[in-house]
Amino acid sequence: MGTRFIPATKANPKEMLPIVDKPLIQYAAEEAEEAGVDNLVFIIGRQKRAIPDHFDKNYELESELEAAGKHKLLKIVQNVLPSNVSCIYLRQAEALGLGHAVLCAKPVVGDEPFAVTLADDLIKGDGGKGALAQMAEVYEKYQCSVILVEEVPPEETNKYGIVEIAEDDGETAIITSIVEKPNPEDAPSNLAVVGRYILTPRIFELLEKTKRGAGGEIQLTDAIAELLKYEKVRAYRVKGKRYDCGSKEGYMEATVEYGLAHSEIGADFAEYLKKIAADL
Ligand code: G1P
Repeated sequence: MGTRFIPATKANPKEMLPIVDKPLIQYAAEEAEEAGVDNLVFIIGRQKRAIPDHFDKNYELESELEAAGKHKLLKIVQNVLPSNVSCIYLRQAEALGLGHAVLCAKPVVGDEPFAVTLADDLIKGDGGKGALAQMAEVYEKYQCSVILVEEVPPEETNKYGIVEIAEDDGETAIITSIVEKPNPEDAPSNLAVVGRYILTPRIFELLEKTKRGAGGEIQLTDAIAELLKYEKVRAYRVKGKRYDCGSKEGYMEATVEYGLAHSEIGADFAEYLKKIAADL
């Protein structure tokens, strides 16, 4: 619900908050497209109508930009969604948790592996390769579910799904247990799940049996804990940087760093930051 960004999220979904000039949901879509995903399934709720609008055609804006000769902007508007990508929107009537949201996609995903992206975890992959594309390679190699993890400060384990691992090669490892938002004293490690998963379809049948867990919600983490009994699941440490855009601090960090890297404003923005930093 984006409660940490109220009032910005009173009428606008948190996934539509912009980092410089693109909403978070578009970064997520572009990362998925880069990984070879050509069907994007959005699980949305009543408050999130701006998301399908964003990926839809906007005749009025396009014809005005065309008439004004603003061809560069027109191209940006038209390229929000590549022509080979389809969008499917599913409405989740009640916010019953991430596990429930993923289960909503069962009828369209069917019996195939699929990726889950939480758009408020914005990830800038090293060398320009996005997190999902990196994970897709791990999936190809090991043919099992892959979950993105990152070390977090031990006192923050109660904000994340936390994994315990074995056979760690520094990049990937086998997950031996996973638990949702444990208190630091109960956490098996400080290796946290961040918002990217590649999952095998068996997760759906397990989600169907998953009872409400932490926070009274149907947790994806709990179904993954069950999945471990049947299949190998690998943790993968991202090569890149994650910004927790569900928090104000993470959102501001992403705004500053993406602003500095932006082709149009980066250089001037860097000058500006130097100027104000001198006065801090
Ligand atoms: C969700 C998951 C959690 C994961 C986190 C990553 O929690 O339930 O396991 O670590 O996303 O951002 P949420 O942030 O929705 O509470």
